[in-house]
Amino acid sequence: MSGMFITVEGPDGSGKSTQLQLLVESLTQKGYDIVVTREPGGTTVGNQIREVLLSPDHHEMTPRVEMMLYAASRAQNVEQVIRPALERGAIVLCDRFIDASIAYQGYGLQYDLDQIQSLNEWATNGLTPDLTFLFDLSPERASARMKDRGQLDRIESRDQAFHERVYEGFQTLLKQYPERIIRIDADQPIECIQDEVLDYTIERLQQGGVQR
Ligand SMILES: Nc1ncnc2c1ncn2[C@@H]1O[C@H](COP(=O)(O)OP(=O)(O)OP(=O)(O)O)[C@@H](O)[C@H]1O
Ligand SMILES: [Mg+2]
Repeated sequence: MSGMFITVEGPDGSGKSTQLQLLVESLTQKGYDIVVTREPGGTTVGNQIREVLLSPDHHEMTPRVEMMLYAASRAQNVEQVIRPALERGAIVLCDRFIDASIAYQGYGLQYDLDQIQSLNEWATNGLTPDLTFLFDLSPERASARMKDRGQLDRIESRDQAFHERVYEGFQTLLKQYPERIIRIDADQPIECIQDEVLDYTIERLQQGGVQR
């Protein structure tokens, strides 16, 4: 594959979507071929799965089902959107990917990490991001930002202990994959983070020989 697969990860409210949008604008302006997607969602099938996953009405959903729905949305997104884009040499920017399943379902819901890993490897046919930005924001700071945003979805409204375990999960992933995952201090002004993310991305695109 000749494109580059970049994901953004981090707790709810850490600024992933804000920064992803800014990165898309900068890279598009520079003339790169960009495909932007998100999880769960990114396809028609995926968006319907997203609604099921995030609806506050579905409090009876079991963790196993939750995991499979995330994996199902991801499988559809990989086959329909991500792989074809990478094959034509585009840069794919994805808002959350497998790391989120490890952090939320693995660490947050305390499900078996190896099982989540193998389910997802199967779902994505082994696709791993080339580069991941992890937006690091303490659970306290993240929850303060979310409160400003209004009604919380099914996952966001889980208790503080859940969000603390998710946070620990992301920290563990950072240590586990130091080559792939870049830590970004998310408690900075939006413009500073934007510059840091763009500089790093450009460096990696040049190293990887990705063409405009
Ligand atoms: N660097 C920042 N400093 C202060 N506030 C920020 C910063 N970045 C984003 N915000 C604000 O914090 C809120 C959450 O940002 P955003 O939606 O980008 O986070 P997210 O990580 O995508 O959240 P989610 O996981 O729920 O999708 C928004 O109101 C946004 O305007
Ligand atoms: Mg978001």
